[in-house]
Amino acid sequence: MGKSLKELVLVLDFGGQYKELIAGMVRGLSVYSEIKRGDISIAELKQLNPIGIILTGGPDSVNSPTSPKCSPELFELGVPVLGICYGMQLMCRILGGKVECGKFGEYGCVDVTHIASGKTSTALMSHRDSVTEPPDGFAVTMRSPNCIAAVENPTRKLYGVQFHPESKHTVGGREVIRRFLYEVCGAKGNYKLDDYIETAISQIREIVNESVLVNNRGKTDNNQVLLGLSGGVDSSVCAALLSKAVPGRLTCIFVDHGFMRQNEGNEIEEIFSKCNLTFIRVNAQERFLAKLKGIVDSETKRKLIGYEFVRVFEEQASLICSQESGNSAVFLAQGTIYPDIVESGGKHGATIKSHHNVGGLPENLAFEGIVEPLSGLFKDEVRVLGKKLGLTDKLINRQPFPGPGLAIRVMGEVTKAKLEIIRNSDAILREELEKAVIQRPDQYFTVLTDTRTVGVKGDDRTYDYVVAIRAVTTGDFMTCEYTPLPHELLGRISSRLTSEIPEISRVVYDITSKPPATIEWE
Ligand code: XMP
Repeated sequence: MGKSLKELVLVLDFGGQYKELIAGMVRGLSVYSEIKRGDISIAELKQLNPIGIILTGGPDSVNSPTSPKCSPELFELGVPVLGICYGMQLMCRILGGKVECGKFGEYGCVDVTHIASGKTSTALMSHRDSVTEPPDGFAVTMRSPNCIAAVENPTRKLYGVQFHPESKHTVGGREVIRRFLYEVCGAKGNYKLDDYIETAISQIREIVNESVLVNNRGKTDNNQVLLGLSGGVDSSVCAALLSKAVPGRLTCIFVDHGFMRQNEGNEIEEIFSKCNLTFIRVNAQERFLAKLKGIVDSETKRKLIGYEFVRVFEEQASLICSQESGNSAVFLAQGTIYPDIVESGGKHGATIKSHHNVGGLPENLAFEGIVEPLSGLFKDEVRVLGKKLGLTDKLINRQPFPGPGLAIRVMGEVTKAKLEIIRNSDAILREELEKAVIQRPDQYFTVLTDTRTVGVKGDDRTYDYVVAIRAVTTGDFMTCEYTPLPHELLGRISSRLTSEIPEISRVVYDITSKPPATIEWE
């Protein structure tokens, strides 16, 4: 939906996990960005006419014949390029420099020195290979203890950094991107979210009305839109936007799959049944549980839940279609956001997890079409949009909750009994955190591990579950640090969990950052 804007910076993906951080940072600096495959054709590049190109990092070695490459012509277009990590190595190698593997690897924060000024700052590194000889015409501008940290050829407007400026652990990283955009690419900074609402509304109307005309269905003013509402930020903002675009024609379906947190289903029903839209709650708990019987693999769980979700939807849609006149059509709306799309696709990037609102869509959907009005936005942008649309802070700032819900916080097979344990433990954790006088983590929950250990309660030996506490600090949910909760608070939570929930014998605290761990355990 930002495509009509002139200024575009392309982020070319070579499989790095941080591509969205880069694109999000560019947008945060008021320049519209999109992520494309690293091997995009020169013809398409020319057609998109970007003011700058950023090459992402990636897990491969540029020296491997099978690693992802870009066209050498990309560097001849006169368009400024910033190569990051693998992107820098790729640019240097294509242009005649040397990249070596092995002894120069660095992982984590290191000191990098700006050669001209002698100043040192901290930067996040994550690389095995390094540029050991820059191409002709390139100067080395920064060094780390092990390697060349930055190169440049200002005449050709080609720049490379071995560190990750998109990471918040790199001091001054945002400034590196800002200078590339404004000083090298000459950006004016014309990307504003304010324009988004009007553009999105007219595009929604266009899709919902015009595709029906194309299909010769005649009347266009009573077509319906169905939205899966989970009560999370994305679907709530989507509902607000759609009810503005097609008032009176939006039906929100809340599929209660039974994996919601304590009392959450009732809360969602209470909020949305008061709004100016048709709200339907489908109680499908037993059905989902039956599908997951005997399933232990996390990806299979995710896929089955996603698939079942869509099935429930189709059933509701056909009920609604049959109630409508022959002239109307039903469109499926989804609160899919940009990272959902980027993370679920991509040739080079490894699929870390299937995000179920994208991964499980079957091809035989009985809908006239699909509307995804948030699909160009990052999470932070969705929140800002929600505020502009008048949603409450409580709703907008809710901590994220995954589509498959508590099912992916129960390791191994999901059963009613395990769901009860995870739900109660989550409620205790939330209650304690919400009354503690601390800055709350960005996301916090419990995980029911599939491990049982020996304990002693009263004078009896017990053999019960280990529950983990996960609390993370993050801005973008692409990377995170564990939140160091006060020990006293952790102790209180542990004591409540083990005394109030008989099936828990032990509580552990997850202190892993992302990467290498993900936020959810499955
Ligand atoms: P991970 O575990 O990938 O999670 O580090 C990053 C963020 O995404 C949420 N998450 C999901 N959200 N559908 C969603 O809508 C999903 O399938 C899903 N899986 C993870 C997770 O809670 C965290 O905020």
